Amino acid sequence: MSNEVKKTAKRILITGGSGFLGSHLFSLACQKFEAHATYQSNPINHANGFTYKVNLAEIKAINPLLDRVKPDAIIHTAAIANPDYCEQNKTEAETVNVLATQQIADWCGRNKSKLIFTSTDMVFNGEAGNYQESDSPDPKSFYAQTKSRAEKAVLNSNSQNIVARVALVYGMGIERKSSFFEQMVNRLRNGEHVSLFCDQFRSPILVNNLAEALLELAENDFSGIIHLGGSERISRWDFGLKACQVLNLPSGFIEKTSMHDFSTIAFRPGDISLDCSLANKVLKTKLLNCDEGLEIIKAMQVYESSGVRVSSKN
Ligand SMILES: NC(=O)c1ccc[n+]([C@@H]2O[C@H](COP(=O)([O-])OP(=O)(O)OC[C@H]3O[C@@H](n4cnc5c(N)ncnc54)[C@H](OP(=O)(O)O)[C@@H]3O)[C@@H](O)[C@H]2O)c1
Repeated sequence: MSNEVKKTAKRILITGGSGFLGSHLFSLACQKFEAHATYQSNPINHANGFTYKVNLAEIKAINPLLDRVKPDAIIHTAAIANPDYCEQNKTEAETVNVLATQQIADWCGRNKSKLIFTSTDMVFNGEAGNYQESDSPDPKSFYAQTKSRAEKAVLNSNSQNIVARVALVYGMGIERKSSFFEQMVNRLRNGEHVSLFCDQFRSPILVNNLAEALLELAENDFSGIIHLGGSERISRWDFGLKACQVLNLPSGFIEKTSMHDFSTIAFRPGDISLDCSLANKVLKTKLLNCDEGLEIIKAMQVYESSGVRVSSKN
């Protein structure tokens, strides 16, 4: 199998173009590339590229689709990304998250296309924090285990591929998906209580910032594992308070809680903050801290005082 990859990505395929991250990626990709995107159950309406309905659990459907599109690069975001659902539906999660990724990686290897796979900070056990790319994964939940197995499939199929381990993503959704952030903002606007853990640490990244970084990776020469998070380790509780401050939301409805006070179906790690210094060296795209990201949300007027979203374009 050749490791040579076409240098400049002209035709790009975003899998999961109807998802929270994928919809931002597809929207931005349409401005720069001949952009193609897949969806499963939520048709894509917001952008002008080419779209395809595919169920990745039907592994045999993958090669014909890729043969038809012939992408120079694929950003593979489609996944079953709900840890609790994965824990309770292991066969489906393994098929979609691992076997489908293996199939896509094999196609990219045979066709000299570059593959960028969005993995997760959850591949780490959360005992140390500030994880570097060289640190060993120790995934505890079934979701994280599927992503870790998929990482290996991607890296083994072609040395030019990229595993982008993504931190907690925040921002406003373009399609129907609503992120934890959007739900939090809406609840606070409605005067409803929001419980946020003070002892769970991540490196939150603005979805628009992440989409820019991933599209830059589709075009540059980097290969291997890269961590993509915001430039700040922060608890969910502190993040909520910051959001209130920047977006003028009432912070009195935020309740400080411990993750140990709640039982969840899937294991939740404590500190999976990411060291993103490699990304800061490799990318021209600056990875933003929370204040910078929240200011962008405010400036883009995706949020206004009435709580109505007026624009969700990149
Ligand atoms: N959001 C985060 O904070 C975060 C953090 C770390 C890593 N990640 C990773 O980033 C990626 C995107 O996450 P997200 O939050 O944007 O997820 P999301 O909003 O849940 O979107 C998932 C996407 O995958 C598609 N999909 C799911 N099952 C499928 C199947 N069987 N066949 C084909 N497509 C299928 C969905 O299509 P339909 O909606 O059309 O069914 C949707 O487009 C995932 O790989 C996730 O593991 C996310």
